[in-house]
Amino acid sequence: MCGIVGYVGDRDAGDVLVKGLKRLEYRGYDSAGVAILNGQMSIQKGKGKVVNLEKLIKVNGVKGNIGIGHTRWATHGEPNDVNSHPHLSESGKVAVVHNGIIENYGSLKKKLSDNGRTFKSQTDTEIIAQLIEEIYSKSKDISFEQAIRLTLKQIVGTYGLAIVNIEEPGKIYIARKGSPLLLGIGDNEMFIASDASPIVEYTNKVVYLDDGEMAVVDRSSYEVKTIEDVSLTKEVHELAISLDEIEKAGYPHFMLKEIFEQPKALADCLRGRINPKKGTVQLGGVADVMDQIVKANRIVIAACGTSWHSALVGEYLFEYLAKAPVEVEYASEFRYRDPLIGEGDVLLVISQSGETADTLAALREARERGALVLGICNVVGSTISRETDAGVFTHAGPEIGVASTKAFTAQVVVLTMMALELAMRKGTITKEKAKKYIKELDQIPGKVEQILKECDETTREMARLFTYAPNFLYLGRSYNFPVALEGALKLKEISYIHAEGYPAAEMKHGPIALIDEMMPVVVIAATDHTNDKMISNIEEVKARKGRIISIMNKENSDVEELSEFSISIPSTYDCFSPLLTVIPLQLLSYYIAVNRGCNVDQPRNLAKSVTVE
Ligand code: G6P
Repeated sequence: MCGIVGYVGDRDAGDVLVKGLKRLEYRGYDSAGVAILNGQMSIQKGKGKVVNLEKLIKVNGVKGNIGIGHTRWATHGEPNDVNSHPHLSESGKVAVVHNGIIENYGSLKKKLSDNGRTFKSQTDTEIIAQLIEEIYSKSKDISFEQAIRLTLKQIVGTYGLAIVNIEEPGKIYIARKGSPLLLGIGDNEMFIASDASPIVEYTNKVVYLDDGEMAVVDRSSYEVKTIEDVSLTKEVHELAISLDEIEKAGYPHFMLKEIFEQPKALADCLRGRINPKKGTVQLGGVADVMDQIVKANRIVIAACGTSWHSALVGEYLFEYLAKAPVEVEYASEFRYRDPLIGEGDVLLVISQSGETADTLAALREARERGALVLGICNVVGSTISRETDAGVFTHAGPEIGVASTKAFTAQVVVLTMMALELAMRKGTITKEKAKKYIKELDQIPGKVEQILKECDETTREMARLFTYAPNFLYLGRSYNFPVALEGALKLKEISYIHAEGYPAAEMKHGPIALIDEMMPVVVIAATDHTNDKMISNIEEVKARKGRIISIMNKENSDVEELSEFSISIPSTYDCFSPLLTVIPLQLLSYYIAVNRGCNVDQPRNLAKSVTVE
């Protein structure tokens, strides 16, 4: 969480930093600030979104060609003006922006206070600026770079850092441990950012910093070293994303754009990987380890949030198609449980951003214990994608809205392809059957498109009626139980309506007590083999006056008659139905949130990339 940008070159630093911070706002938006060097250290910062910062810079007429900026997701200290980054050293000569958490900040702060330093904020970050200055000012033989290095050795925790010093007005220092940072190489200008989105409009040449590395950057050069002072030659990567992909393209919100982009995102995800005519699947990223996956004792899938929901769908797919034993874990729980995983096992991590701290930690834990570690990521170049033994990119394109939509369906598509390839290798499905599945998978982007066309108006109407419902219940069975969880998560995260997802039969063990005439119950009744049971559950809800919204297979008059609203999806295999049933749920939550005046793309307290544990 938190976004960092930096710039040095001929452009107006304020402009570049503000533009960059806007692109990184999905990482946190509690406050924003910049430090611009222009003969002096100009700090502009304050509570709230980047637009406030933009006004501040304009009103105060701050100009300069080098600076660092930050958009914050608060960890230590409430979101207010004082706790906003950048933070300064006592003399005001050193400014720091930080993404991460300094765990030993309490003891360091005490030591620095005992030495007479006074602190302005409640943040952990301020100690970094103070400690650098303390070390630098106490010894004449130490360079500023060395002072940073010695500081980094004393701090425990995670950081992505950008640092400027008024005494070295052409340089930006950066360092990374646990929080992503990359460097964009321009023509006589350099860019720094937490991800590629602020950089892409200026250059496509980037260097990814790895953990334990730092760099000193000026307008025409950069030098990357380890924190132990060993010089490194880093590979320069070419960015594959374009500016168009990270703009709204006429949609009012990124979330809506991303929902409607799903037909394309899924087609991109499938492209070149399935051959419907031949009935084959080929996932290049895991081709070399496929034998190991086939022989694996078990497959553990670890993820967080929406990615965890796709993992649950994956469990059903792997077990049904490939008869492979699968367990799904919250990444955050997995690592602290002394997990029983080792040689012969596979850990598959799923992460849109590829930066989620808990997922990354699960990956490292499993790798240390000898497991083969695979990844499904959306962001190319992300830490998780670089640290896994092998993996598959979802190729869904940049996802900016905090609530994940197209990344979820693309993850499920990848899991489906993996399950099918595994099933064919293991011989758990026949060639003919596999061919039918692959043909159907090829049709899925078109079916998603059809749903988007057909259900947009109905979901708007439903949203109008239920905008002020205080609670929602989502019920699903089998493959669509994870979709019930995902539907409930989408609604609560962007509309702040309390919602719960439940396996339909479990409703009788608790949530049924909540049902009355005020309670909308979204029933995902599109899994043929459990439909009769689902109809009984609908009856149970209706008997208690609950209001039924159903997502059902086409021409299911039983479900339709029992529902106040129903949305039908085109027919498909049961095991592919989550790819279709989730679409109306995404739209429903979007329209409800818009009606309630919520900030859909940047819901309160959330961040898209959770880089703290
Ligand atoms: C945050 C985001 C969610 C996302 C989750 C996991 O909570 O708001 O949308 O599903 O992190 O993120 P990842 O990038 O690992 O998929």
